[in-house]
This record gives sequence, structure tokens and C-alpha cells, in this order.
Amino acid sequence: MSQRTFVIIKPDAVRRGLVGEVLSRYEAKGLTIVAMEHRTIDASQADEHYAEHVEQPWYPPLRDFVTSGPLVAAILEGDEAIEVVRLINGATDGRKAAPGTIRGDLSLSNRENLVHGSDSPESAEREIKLWFPSL
Ligand code: TYD
Ligand code: MG
Repeated sequence: MSQRTFVIIKPDAVRRGLVGEVLSRYEAKGLTIVAMEHRTIDASQADEHYAEHVEQPWYPPLRDFVTSGPLVAAILEGDEAIEVVRLINGATDGRKAAPGTIRGDLSLSNRENLVHGSDSPESAEREIKLWFPSL
């Protein structure tokens, strides 16, 4: 069953020139890009996106990071896209993520971990509405 998920290619990936590398992994898997935009977000947009995390002690540096430069926001579509993207992204901490995943191959950080993917159908719906209100 086709499903939509929301992805961020974070500012570290943009700075490192890894946008193409990351997108190629999603595309090679068979996912379709149905929306994509290069943009820079401010602190209040970061707080909305990461609403579930704003009280965490590690949130202020995360907010600084996600607002530190341009990112690429996208909606991907395909069979079980939410779970498939999470598997391709790998575990949150790049130091512990499995080789073969984006984070496992390309990140050495628990914060600068290159990508975001919605974690449930409810999150995907909320995030798509937040980032692409016209879709
Ligand atoms: P989380 O939703 O737990 O991870 P995921 O992106 O795998 O769904 O956390 C959101 C982001 O917050 C995560 O991608 C990186 C950052 N983060 C930290 O900076 N420090 C931490 O200790 C954790 C758990 C996350
Ligand atoms: Mg998460």
C-alpha cells in the first residue's frame, strides 16, 4: 500500500555536499519524490517540527544545528515508505547506526546525523501539513 513520509536532508548533509548521495539512496530503493524544497528554518519552525523534544536537555544545541543553514525538505512516497525510510536512515546515533544505512555510512554524530524521517503515520501526516501545507 502506497504511503507518504516526510524527510529532511539536514544542514550537515547540505554543507557536506551529500544531498545527491542521500536522495540517490531513496530513489534507488524505489521511493518517489513527490515534493522537495531547499529552505532555511528559524527557531520557531524548529520548535514546531521537534515539538516532542523541546524539553530535552539536548534540544537547544539541536535547534541551533537545524537552523544553522539550508536543508532540503521532501515528501517521499512508496510501499511502507515510513518504515522503509527509517531503515535506510539507520539508528539515531551515527556512531552506532548499522553500516549500509545513511547514518551508519556517513555520520559520526548523535546530533549531526544527516536525515530525518517521520516515525509513524500520525507523525507523517502532522509533518507534511506543517512543512507543505498546500499538499
Ligand atoms: P529522535 O526523534 O530520538 O531520533 P530520530 O531522528 O532517529 O527519529 O531525535 C530527533 C533528533 O534529535 C535526532 O535525529 C538527533 C537529535 N538528538 C540529539 O541531538 N541528541 C540526542 O541525545 C538524541 C536522542 C537526539
Ligand atoms: Mg524522531
